[in-house]
Amino acid sequence: MKLITIGSSFSLVASALAIDVRAGCRGTEVIARDIAVIGGGATGTYAAINLKDQGKSVVVVEQRGSLGGHTSTYHDPATGTPINYGVQLHHDDQIARDFYSRLNVTASQASFPDTRIPLYIDFTDGSPVLNYSIPPLSDDYIQALHKYPYLENGIELPDPVPEELLLTWPEYMERFNLTGDAFATYSMPAVPGDLTKYLALYVFNYLNSGMLEEEREGKIIMNADGDLAELYRNALAELGSDVLLNSVVLHGQRGSKPADGVKLCVLTPKGRKQIVAKQLVFAAPAELENLEPLSPDEREKNIMSEFKGGFYFTGIVTNFGLPTNYSYTNRGQNTESHIASVPGVAMFNPTNVEGTYYYWYNSLSDMTRGQVEADTRNTIKRLQRTVAGADVSAEPKFLEYKSHSPLHRTASADVIRKGIYRDVYSLQGYRNTWYTGSLLVVGSSQLWNLTSQLLPRIIAASEQ
Ligand SMILES: Cc1cc2nc3c(=O)[nH]c(=O)nc-3n(C[C@H](O)[C@H](O)[C@H](O)COP(=O)(O)OP(=O)(O)OC[C@H]3O[C@@H](n4cnc5c(N)ncnc54)[C@H](O)[C@@H]3O)c2cc1C
Ligand SMILES: *[C@@H]1O[C@H](CO)[C@@H](O)[C@H](O)[C@H]1NC(C)=O
Ligand SMILES: *[C@@H]1O[C@H](CO)[C@@H](O)[C@H](O)[C@H]1NC(C)=O
Ligand SMILES: *[C@@H]1O[C@H](CO)[C@@H](O)[C@H](O)[C@H]1NC(C)=O
Ligand SMILES: *[C@@H]1O[C@H](CO)[C@@H](O)[C@H](O)[C@H]1NC(C)=O
Ligand SMILES: *[C@@H]1O[C@H](CO)[C@@H](O)[C@H](O)[C@H]1NC(C)=O
Repeated sequence: MKLITIGSSFSLVASALAIDVRAGCRGTEVIARDIAVIGGGATGTYAAINLKDQGKSVVVVEQRGSLGGHTSTYHDPATGTPINYGVQLHHDDQIARDFYSRLNVTASQASFPDTRIPLYIDFTDGSPVLNYSIPPLSDDYIQALHKYPYLENGIELPDPVPEELLLTWPEYMERFNLTGDAFATYSMPAVPGDLTKYLALYVFNYLNSGMLEEEREGKIIMNADGDLAELYRNALAELGSDVLLNSVVLHGQRGSKPADGVKLCVLTPKGRKQIVAKQLVFAAPAELENLEPLSPDEREKNIMSEFKGGFYFTGIVTNFGLPTNYSYTNRGQNTESHIASVPGVAMFNPTNVEGTYYYWYNSLSDMTRGQVEADTRNTIKRLQRTVAGADVSAEPKFLEYKSHSPLHRTASADVIRKGIYRDVYSLQGYRNTWYTGSLLVVGSSQLWNLTSQLLPRIIAASEQ
């Protein structure tokens, strides 16, 4: 298990009671709804609000204690200042603006987060990486991107899949003379794992036109008061008892025809409940592990088992002890294109609270909070010894932590060549189940767009 603690313990309970559970949900309270949504992150919340607005009854099953998924906002207890340490911003488009206004959040044009003066340091030894800077993406990159419009709003690949998209990114850059874009592309935020192993397909899918509009034209919005989690708090208030927090599906049945609907047995803090719904929106990370309680058949298993997410953790630390006029970004002194070594802290960014930083941590395998914070602390102590003006006696204090694993689910070149993405699209609606969530695009706004395009089909199926 590589989910957060609460999810793991619930799942352990689920497997320990697997036999008992089937009988155990009988006779419990029945929640009858048109649509059940599993996962209350960016896409699950969007689906629930919009389905409700279109006259459908919904229920959301979310394993954590709040909606929002990768969106995490901490409030400084002394000043109330919001600190977003997960999702930072949204693409400025009508879909995002409509969602903000639906949830009474005032959208304001924003710029990329304040990173002050960037210092590039090899965090493994604290030495500065000299003469390093990140040039903007070249026009050659943009021309290459325009060759693949089908990667902009999803992964709708032609058949056969262009072989060049299945090269690793270093191979692609080499082949197409884009090595000048190495620093810019390797600076994609919040990408887990070893960047040199990423396929070109995923780089273009991520660093797409929308992302370029954000970087080049500043097409970015965020909550005017800086608190991104407000969207999800307001959504929770709006959905009320239609959201089951700290809850997981123990087991479920999904019929093969729309009329057969979906039945879920859910473990909530108030005990077990049954959900009886017409259709199911699967908005948790689409990995086999999360699908398991729904008894996936061979077809679903074969597809979902090909996707693997990466490991990524974030947190907030105060008593940082380093000059607060900088951001600190990890780069390798002697690595390929100065990529930061993994596992390790990717960066420390300043916040509006003096001396308090948020950090992102990249890993190749799962880690506990204790492991992440111990390594982050050692990294800070190392930087305190090498950065001029640091206070070496400052003892870092950790305020917040979140696991974002499994992040960015990807498949291998071989299975993509064989048509895994065609298979994923073909799964939509199969066994009354609809997949949204970040399997096909990365940014929240794009995910909302993809979700909104799926809603008419989900509604139609629920009315059959
Ligand atoms: C550190 C970080 C920063 C990012 N910054 C940005 C940004 O600035 N702008 C941007 O547009 N995008 C950003 N992203 C990308 C982000 O992933 C997407 O924008 C979006 O939040 C993904 O939404 P989602 O619904 O697919 O997944 P999530 O938001 O992760 O939602 C999935 C939900 O399902 C729940 N869940 C998981 N398993 C289960 C289960 N078995 N049962 C029930 N519930 C379950 C989870 O708790 C979670 O709430 C960032 C990602 C990370 C990790
Ligand atoms: C938005 O504000 C209106 C007016 O105050 C209120 O009726 C409504 O419930 C709010 N909706 C949300 C989602 O906060
Ligand atoms: C960095 O740039 C300066 C000035 O251009 C140059 O003198 C120095 O040798 C460079 N250092 C490295 C490590 O490349
Ligand atoms: C890449 O650059 C080399 C040398 O400048 C040139 O010979 C080659 O044709 C270029 N390749 C492509 C695909 O543009
Ligand atoms: C940042 O702060 C440190 C310590 O206060 C100081 O030594 C350094 O000159 C400052 N740097 C800049 C660019 O202002
Ligand atoms: C939403 O996606 C469609 C394609 O699926 C695209 O044509 C449209 O431009 C997207 N809208 C936004 C606001 O990105």
